[in-house]
Amino acid sequence: MSTRPTPSPLLLALRAGTRACHTALEERLPFFREGFDVAGYRRLLSAYYGFHAPLELTLAGYQGVERAKAPALVRDLLALGLSAADIDALPLCQALPAVEDEARALGVMYVLEGSTLGGQVLKRAMAERLGLAPDRGLGFLDVYGAASGSYWRAFLERLADAACTQAAQAATVQAAIDTFVCFERWLAQRGVLDQANTCTTPHAGTRATNPAAVLGQ
Ligand code: HEM
Repeated sequence: MSTRPTPSPLLLALRAGTRACHTALEERLPFFREGFDVAGYRRLLSAYYGFHAPLELTLAGYQGVERAKAPALVRDLLALGLSAADIDALPLCQALPAVEDEARALGVMYVLEGSTLGGQVLKRAMAERLGLAPDRGLGFLDVYGAASGSYWRAFLERLADAACTQAAQAATVQAAIDTFVCFERWLAQRGVLDQANTCTTPHAGTRATNPAAVLGQ
């Protein structure tokens, strides 16, 4: 029998609000693309760093340092051959989702914390496909190690305890969508994503006029 607690209304709203974003991004990420190699992985993690490092600074007042993932990215990049100077010189994303209150911080955190769940799948796949090891390039994908489940459950409890006014809930969901949108745009700009339709809702018009999108291809 499952002992999973009933999802909070806020979690259900976040899942419903970001499902399409997750699917769109997952389809564009190159992890499972034929020919994806360690050099591609290094480029991808470098781009991840450019998003996580500045975004985590804006979250500093809302989450403890133990949830910061940029340090794991730095360790991975060093293990994959970048120097500290190379890492310092990596471009950093300027168009970040705004974090101006607890409600929005929770939405941003939902995306970053949730990505650790997919990380479990990716960690195993990248170990197998790229021959990487926990101390050689897989630290970010398994950032919480054996504590992954307890970190996620603790975050879900925080969501469940969060203010549940309609306005706060809407702000949290919007921040989560913004995070996916900003991240996808940033990765695309860094040239590490496949071409595809995106979840960028502000471009909904573009999608509608894209024949492939209309045909659902
Ligand atoms: C190819 C890349 C990815 C794969 C294969 C993947 C896969 C997964 C899987 C298997 C789960 C767990 C679903 C469950 O246990 O119910 C998950 C959850 C999640 N992922 Fe991903 N993911 C990927 C990329 C990402 C990225 C880049 C982000 C955000 C930056 C992200 C955000 C999330 C979130 C927020 C959840 C939590 C959903 C929830 O339980 O509410 N994922 N992903």
